[in-house]
Amino acid sequence: MADTYEEEEYNAHFSGSTLRRILELLRPHWRWTLGFLLTVAATAGLDALFTYISAHIIDDGILARDRDALIRLMALYGGLQVVQAGLVFGFIYLVSMLGERIRYDLRKTLFNHIQDLSLAYFNQTPVGWMMARVTSDTERVGGMVTWGLLDIVWAIVNITSAAVFMFIINWRLALIVLIMVPILVVIAAQFRKKILVEFRAARKLNSRITAAFNENITGVRVVKALGREDENIGEFSLLTSQMYQASYRAAWLSALFLPVVQIISALALGAIIYYGGVQAHLGFITIGGIQAFVSYVTFMMWPVQDLARVYAELQHAIASAERIFSLSDAVPEVHDRPSAIDPGNLHGEIEFDHVDFYYEDKKPVLTDFSLRVQAGETIALVGPTGGGKTTIVNLLCRFFEPKSGVIRISGRDYTDLTLHAIQSRVGIVLQTPHLFSGTLRENIRYGRLDATDAEIEEAARLAGAHDFIVTLEKGYDQDVGEGGNLLSTGQKQLVSLARAVLAQPEIFIMDEATSSVDTLTEALIQKGMHTLMEGRTSFIIAHRLSTIKRADRILVIEAGRIAEMGTHAELLRQGGRYYHLYTQQFRRQLEEEYAI
Ligand SMILES: Nc1ncnc2c1ncn2[C@@H]1O[C@H](COP(=O)(O)OP(=O)(O)OP(=O)(O)O)[C@@H](O)[C@H]1O
Ligand SMILES: [Mg+2]
Repeated sequence: MADTYEEEEYNAHFSGSTLRRILELLRPHWRWTLGFLLTVAATAGLDALFTYISAHIIDDGILARDRDALIRLMALYGGLQVVQAGLVFGFIYLVSMLGERIRYDLRKTLFNHIQDLSLAYFNQTPVGWMMARVTSDTERVGGMVTWGLLDIVWAIVNITSAAVFMFIINWRLALIVLIMVPILVVIAAQFRKKILVEFRAARKLNSRITAAFNENITGVRVVKALGREDENIGEFSLLTSQMYQASYRAAWLSALFLPVVQIISALALGAIIYYGGVQAHLGFITIGGIQAFVSYVTFMMWPVQDLARVYAELQHAIASAERIFSLSDAVPEVHDRPSAIDPGNLHGEIEFDHVDFYYEDKKPVLTDFSLRVQAGETIALVGPTGGGKTTIVNLLCRFFEPKSGVIRISGRDYTDLTLHAIQSRVGIVLQTPHLFSGTLRENIRYGRLDATDAEIEEAARLAGAHDFIVTLEKGYDQDVGEGGNLLSTGQKQLVSLARAVLAQPEIFIMDEATSSVDTLTEALIQKGMHTLMEGRTSFIIAHRLSTIKRADRILVIEAGRIAEMGTHAELLRQGGRYYHLYTQQFRRQLEEEYAI
């Protein structure tokens, strides 16, 4: 299914403003661009000039039997060839460098922008889609503004300068040839378009075939168990035969294209030779002139075809650019207000004041949610799945902002603070912790970049991660693999805890893992958590009875509201929801713990 994000429909239309924005990418590199355009134009112009000089070589040198003229013209021809060779080197070098610069600029812009986007954007946008923007779309746009532009300039200059020389030689013949150009362009463009449609259809079918293949193989047990083999084979052969049809049509059109172009230019050639012969008879054109025309017609086929190809590529590039710009224009929903400040010190007093919140679907998640937390207090959030626990901590970290109501930290509306002021003071350990590829040391240091190695070890010790780290072959220099996949979930949590300890946050948030880890690691995680909770405001989405019991207050969150609030003992006494939760879920845990 990797193709899903690639194969969106291209709106085959030219969008002037997008084209302008694409060209603006060249503005910072205008010197290089200018140099590149001039060298290409000069090279293409020289090409047409060579044919013109050959006409003179034939007429004034060979047919006139004038040895001096022959030598002079040959020297001119040779000299210009050397110049052209230099120009070719110049533009290939410039176009390659320019292409790399543009891709670099685009990728950097996109990457930086993605870092700034709010979580809300990531919610709505598949990661694969964003990846494709940064990789294949930047590639395509970079190619267009360089090699595509090269082809366009080349074709235009080549055709125009050839036209000029043809008019100089004989205007009647020139008119015949120039009628051919638009006809060829239109035919070539039509062919390209049709071939492209078939190719695209074939590619789409191909990705569906891959997906079907994948599903059938990975799900082979289910397929067999349900006796679905025959239906699946039927579906699959339908897809493959559709793909065959599309590829067949594309191949047929591709094969037809060149002969058609050739026949048209052969007709033009025939006309030139016949009409040129008549004109020569009347003394209006020389033999060299006719020869030049024959060359011009033969060579003109290529730039014309190039134009048709570039036209098709340009449409793709515009579609790519539109997607790139849609990403780079996305405004982060959560951003610093112009007057936002970082007050330097914040203590962890937190207040949710009549907060309402919903995600994109507008289905209310938190309604009129109010809560006051003293600095240093530990809050345990418990409750049924989907109740809104993660949402509460997401709001607290300001990954999202309340739709109405206010969240205050240290008595200040937190939208008056910079995002950095808040997020640098919050340490968060996720349910499924994320590590970056790199060493353990680097991953812990992520919590505070200027930490020394000794501080990192100290943090790991406090978090309970040190013991397992030193048993590893390379210790702190062990690589954790992509996303930390060389470590177990429990180990990853320990490393995340160490990272949070190092950061010395004023507010600590943890989404306790529900997945079972071995009892030893479990105990280490608990110890690390307690170290962190010590003396700082903590929000723990708790699944472990031991954590819950330790909390100063337990909040039972249900349907976005605080259903019950109090200490463990108080809530048990009430005999309400918490009591039920306790008797159903935690009693079992308790029994397990005693059983060990
Ligand atoms: N990113 C999101 N986009 C849209 N709706 C969401 C999103 N995240 C959560 N929700 C919805 O908001 C509600 C609260 O979800 P939340 O994740 O806060 O629950 P939770 O209490 O953390 O549940 P759990 O115990 O399963 O983690 C649910 O109805 C959920 O469907
Ligand atoms: Mg959750």
